[in-house]
Amino acid sequence: MNKKLKSIVLNPVRYYSQLIKNNKKGIDLTLGEGHFVSPFNAKLKAYEALLANDTKYSLVEGNESLRKLLIEKYYPKYDYKNEIIITNGSTQGFFSVLLSIINSKQDEVIIIAPYYPAYEKVVKLLGGKVVVINSSKSGFKISPEVLGNYVTGKTKAIIINEPCNPTGVIYSIEEKKVLLEYFKDKDFLIIVDEVYSQYTSESFISFSSLITYDLKDRFIFINGLSKSHMMTGYRIGFVVCGKSLNNELKKINYLTVSCISSVMQKGAIGALEDDQFCKFVTKYYFTNLQTLKETLNNLNIEFVDANSGYYLFINVSKFGLSGEEFCKYFIDNYYTALVPGKLFGKGFDNYVRVSCCKDIKDISKFVNYILDFSEICEKM
Ligand SMILES: Cc1ncc(COP(=O)(O)O)c(C=O)c1O
Repeated sequence: MNKKLKSIVLNPVRYYSQLIKNNKKGIDLTLGEGHFVSPFNAKLKAYEALLANDTKYSLVEGNESLRKLLIEKYYPKYDYKNEIIITNGSTQGFFSVLLSIINSKQDEVIIIAPYYPAYEKVVKLLGGKVVVINSSKSGFKISPEVLGNYVTGKTKAIIINEPCNPTGVIYSIEEKKVLLEYFKDKDFLIIVDEVYSQYTSESFISFSSLITYDLKDRFIFINGLSKSHMMTGYRIGFVVCGKSLNNELKKINYLTVSCISSVMQKGAIGALEDDQFCKFVTKYYFTNLQTLKETLNNLNIEFVDANSGYYLFINVSKFGLSGEEFCKYFIDNYYTALVPGKLFGKGFDNYVRVSCCKDIKDISKFVNYILDFSEICEKM
């Protein structure tokens, strides 16, 4: 067996959702999976593809119409012919990107804690060196000053997840410009995972809109329709990057999956035709986020100020409990499953992550439980 693989534990977030699985009263605020179903047009187009026997291998880089649509809609600075590849979810996207750039332990990849747990695991599995920046003292973001302490001659890449899972933090345009200026005379790659970019306000500007031509080939954008279009099970992700890296990624598709399901790619085209769907879902989850933020503010409970509607990262130290203990209390007393902060890197034991991409009824129940719990704690 591969020794590095042996040490990897399957998605630990699922352990917490399983705790309330068979409980009818249970509320699951663990997984980053929206509660809405996928757009009707996605289902229709996938169904039509099946009926029309449009079920053969697609191109290794993905359906041309889908690539064209994605580039026009989200990354117009790039070329749909040579600078985008469809992957099996964004999970395969970042795995392939890291596989194509890591050669040995000499290759350092910077990740920003708290982070999406898979990044660290993949870098280690591929034999690279993980360099973790704890961002809690710098507003849960990085800046040139912070990076200066971590970037070395061996830095191969940095992964920026914007909006961030689990904090929901995004960078302002000014902060982005400062970072872009800093990146200019460096030679490492900047991998930006934007799977949650749909869940930001309309003023959100992706790094891709600000990059200049000289930086274009050093940026790699990872995205997908799992979160934006409630299509987790369709497994449609994509990577946008310069032509030479894109060629390497094609080889990985060829060797690992041959191509992505042609039926699901047709479904993805259908989903992209429906703009209203994303607007509605975004508004809904933003309302959930706001409801939760207001409650926490009223109760003086600290949280990371998220600007994206998917998650809220709450500091529970006020209650004298660790995140793990808080999660246990909420399972035992309110049948509500949350995720302890320790899963997102060292130093976040006092946090819990709450998924806001859920039915408002469940968020309201959670709000009531927090109020109840705070009252109990005050009486103690
Ligand atoms: C930050 C981040 N990137 C990527 C993914 C993977 O998404 P998918 O493979 O479904 O596109 C997730 C899933 O939770 C995530 O949180």
